[in-house]
Amino acid sequence: MTKLSVNINKIATLRNARGGNNPDLIAVARDCERFGADGITVHPRPDERHIRYSDVLELQKHTRIEFNIEGYPSERFLDLVLQVKPHQVTLVPDPPDAITSNAGWDTLENKEFLIPIITRLKDAKIRTSLFVDPLETMVKGAAAIGTDRIELYTERYAHFFIQDKYNAIKPYKVASEMAKKLGIQINAGHDLNLQNLHFLVTEIPFIQEVSIGHALICDALYLGLENTIALYLNQLQK
Ligand code: PXP
Repeated sequence: MTKLSVNINKIATLRNARGGNNPDLIAVARDCERFGADGITVHPRPDERHIRYSDVLELQKHTRIEFNIEGYPSERFLDLVLQVKPHQVTLVPDPPDAITSNAGWDTLENKEFLIPIITRLKDAKIRTSLFVDPLETMVKGAAAIGTDRIELYTERYAHFFIQDKYNAIKPYKVASEMAKKLGIQINAGHDLNLQNLHFLVTEIPFIQEVSIGHALICDALYLGLENTIALYLNQLQK
């Protein structure tokens, strides 16, 4: 079954709005685990506007399920992940001021930049994933860099799903088949929700993991975190 990693950035945003420790990020991460999530994802940004670097160190001590850290591979970010040694690091090409990830890597243009970084992470026994758009050329580029996985950027899928889900999924199926052929595993994330998740994982059943933040936390406001996680896990049943 495709695994669910809950991105808890939004919990940190809410906490930071008042400067105290409410909601308690660590307690939420542990509750996600208790409610059946397979993993926790965080995306520390250089300005630490949601997840702080210190949160990442604390989370590492308190989470037992899979820990995935996303981010742009600055030296500071790499120092952090090499210290924490999470199960997985997902590299994204975001400029420091990006509101959220808004494009995948150009794996051809960044090949020389990414190869030594991927090698460093793999030498530290950390599984690597590269955030990419669903384009065969970018998947081939990712394979040439030597990453273990790619994370397909699903914003376009989510956007076009509403109009025509069959066309929306097409490039993702093609890119996924290419990745499979090249021996790379696949994750997916961005704008996934209770409407579009099931179709994605039934059309591409070999997706290893989805990481979901925004919609899941919004749903939890109405449905509660326990119920919401159960509903997302249910969508992942094929
Ligand atoms: N994957 C990556 C690389 C991201 O940057 C984000 C957002 O932080 C997500 C997945 C999750 O996206 P969403 O919050 O829309 O579920």
